[in-house]
Amino acid sequence: MSWVLKNVLLYGDGDPVDVVLKDGIIAQIGTDLAGDEVLEAAGCVLLPGLVDLHTHLREPGREDAETVETGTLAAALGGFTAVHAMANTDPVADTAGVVEQVWRLGQEAGHCDVVPVGAVTVGLLGEQMAELGTMADSAARVRVFSDDGKCVSDASLMRRALEYVKAFDGVIAQHAQEPRLTDGAQMNEGVNSSLLGLTGWPAVAEEAIIARDCLLAGHVGGRLHICHVSTSGSVELIRWAKGKGWDVTAEVTPHHLLLTDDCAHSYDPTFKVNPPLRTQHDIDALRAGLADGTIDCVATDHAPHALEDKETEWGAASPGMTGLETALSVVALTMVETGGLTWRQVAERMSETPARIGRLEGHGRPLAVGEPANVVVVDPAARWIVDPAQSASRSRNTPFAGHDLPARVRATFLRGVATSLSGKPA
Ligand code: DOR
Ligand code: ZN
Repeated sequence: MSWVLKNVLLYGDGDPVDVVLKDGIIAQIGTDLAGDEVLEAAGCVLLPGLVDLHTHLREPGREDAETVETGTLAAALGGFTAVHAMANTDPVADTAGVVEQVWRLGQEAGHCDVVPVGAVTVGLLGEQMAELGTMADSAARVRVFSDDGKCVSDASLMRRALEYVKAFDGVIAQHAQEPRLTDGAQMNEGVNSSLLGLTGWPAVAEEAIIARDCLLAGHVGGRLHICHVSTSGSVELIRWAKGKGWDVTAEVTPHHLLLTDDCAHSYDPTFKVNPPLRTQHDIDALRAGLADGTIDCVATDHAPHALEDKETEWGAASPGMTGLETALSVVALTMVETGGLTWRQVAERMSETPARIGRLEGHGRPLAVGEPANVVVVDPAARWIVDPAQSASRSRNTPFAGHDLPARVRATFLRGVATSLSGKPA
């Protein structure tokens, strides 16, 4: 079975071409090509399948919020062909057994590749290093390690982890949050937290850990990735660390590119997230940092939560927002429509670079004959209104409900097989 994608623009550039996907690879690129199945895609942009470095799939343990099946379906609808599944499950993904289980569930679901992230410390407790080498050697071939949801706050442990993963070219993805500076924190510390009477989460709590970890990465020559950068000061620090030549990369989420802490005035816990929504000044710095490459990539931090964990008062609600199905559209709105990124650069920031950071083979590859047919067809002119009830995710906590967003995923292909078509599971 083959597909022909008619009249697509490769990376949004040049003249329209036909692309044939056959036997799992891009078989032909040209004009007047034929295939068993035809996707008429005039005006659409063809990109390499998106890669997410930061997805919470909740399985095992919180299958009421998400499963590998539902989360990867949402991923396919959002244009992703690979997602990294965060380790804060129950049990925690801190052994070869658990990461292999998650990896296998991903293979069985078949909607996109699931790449497990291994915990840095046993049980995410921040005390004892997990068996990173065993997870790296497992069938899941883990290369990204993170205690995400929690910060590896012990400097000595962080140093040893950065050193240890060098042996297998791994990376430590840090959730930068100094715990003593964020005790009981509920939202960004600033004017709004004072007005609302909610405990503040100061920018310095993120920046202090980023500064420390960049120094540690430089010191041991290890590979550091900073999760969900949210402040202008963090962007400056990462720019400084890169200037030193240290192996530091960073991601920003779509929600931190668009929403400010003004959203908290609703007291709607949909807008509670960790790190919190910040200010317009931070948004401007994050967008500039993503545009100039200081921030390497976009990652969703898709964090589904069951209704009872969100439909409660702000202080008791779990932090997190869903994001897989809206990520590309929010990037189109905040970065492409504003002139910050071209579609060619979106391919870099949402596919090529995250694949490289995660050391994934077969993803983030060039759109060229002979390459794996992991691709996404995007209609840049389409607009759509986000309806949480339509989501493939098991959870409904999108902060973009009712937003009128540009760009729609027309189809996603994993090794030449359609995993979503025109907004529906294929
Ligand atoms: O908002 C968040 N939700 N931030 C995190 O770091 C963890 C995540 C989750 O697991 O819900
Ligand atoms: Zn996190």
